[in-house]
Amino acid sequence: MTPAERLQAVAEASGLGPEVDQIGQALRLDQADKMVENVIGLFQVPLGIATNFLIDGRDILIPMATEEPSVIAAASNGARMARGGGGFVTSSTGPVMRAQIQVTGVFDPYGAKHLILEHKDELMKMANDKDPLLVKYGGGAVGLEVQVIDSRVGPMVVAHLLVDCRDAMGANAVNTMAEALAPTVERITGGRVYLRIISNLADRRLARARAVFPKEDLGGEEVVDGIIQAAALAEVDPYRAATHNKGIMNGITALVLATGNDTRAVEAGAHAYAARAGLYSSLTRYEKNSNGDLVGTIELPVAVGLVGGATRVHPVAIGAVKLLGLKSADDLSRIVAAVGLSQNFAALRALSTEGIQRGHMTLHAKNIAAQVGAKGEQIDIIAAKMAAEKKITMDRAAELLRELEA
Ligand code: MEV
Repeated sequence: MTPAERLQAVAEASGLGPEVDQIGQALRLDQADKMVENVIGLFQVPLGIATNFLIDGRDILIPMATEEPSVIAAASNGARMARGGGGFVTSSTGPVMRAQIQVTGVFDPYGAKHLILEHKDELMKMANDKDPLLVKYGGGAVGLEVQVIDSRVGPMVVAHLLVDCRDAMGANAVNTMAEALAPTVERITGGRVYLRIISNLADRRLARARAVFPKEDLGGEEVVDGIIQAAALAEVDPYRAATHNKGIMNGITALVLATGNDTRAVEAGAHAYAARAGLYSSLTRYEKNSNGDLVGTIELPVAVGLVGGATRVHPVAIGAVKLLGLKSADDLSRIVAAVGLSQNFAALRALSTEGIQRGHMTLHAKNIAAQVGAKGEQIDIIAAKMAAEKKITMDRAAELLRELEA
């Protein structure tokens, strides 16, 4: 299909009709100029649709913004293999974020910790008074925790304000609250507050997904065993875990970006969560069930929102949110988890069978052919030839183009 035909197919499959056109529109320069500073242009990234996703019983088309070949195909492939086991099933903790208030210069840190906790109700009320709209929608401060941390420059008392952010990513809401609380925390403790800022280790905003991949659909029990072997290394070896999690983030970042959310916040949260036990480990687990099928699970913090930020400004993000049929930011976070699991499963399956280079190289060859100036059909002919020869270089592509045009 051409991109226009695909857009039409998405309009029909999603039932959105012409409304889906928004997703094919570009950000305008005047819009960009209001988003960040010193704008001089736009940087465009391909937007594709991953298919086959069945999540909590709902068929969902996944918009993915990525520059990396094979990612969208792999996500779709993984989702196809999950369908036989009923697709992805998700759950979450709900959208609670943390703000940290760092208190320094106290003589009795444990005493200061207790003093802060004795003022919990007052501090939480003060936080909620800063955001009546969030409270109206059922969110707001839900807790206060205090840690005493020994650092290189002495003990510190760190208060964590826990805030249910509902459909907001929450950085603005919790940062405003933390700043508002700081003078009172100083008065209560007699210390000096420096940092007042969100924590991106959003361990109270976890999203989870689970899928059963039937062994027959994967290519047999040997493939199941290979995936379990590969995943086991990522659990205990940070060198492998980094690559394993990078593959997960290939899918997650693409979806988070397509919805106009903060990719760095989600990435920071994911990697910090992966290291929470003191050893950087993988975000997924794979096991064999009693039937010999593969069971994959993922759990990670996913701080995404549907209000604020680029989500309500960028036309593609607005279209992406519509396409996903979201009712809440929590819905989005669980879809994000499912996409991460699918992406990871597809990579592990390829790695434990034929390797990823064959599929990857065909796409890479198309890129190279286009780069030397091949057009339309020429791209496919040159790419197929280079892939068959296993020689995918700019020189060879240029040579083949010259032959075609001779
Ligand atoms: C490439 O972008 C991602 C992979 O390396 C992930 C993995 O090794 O699991 C294929």
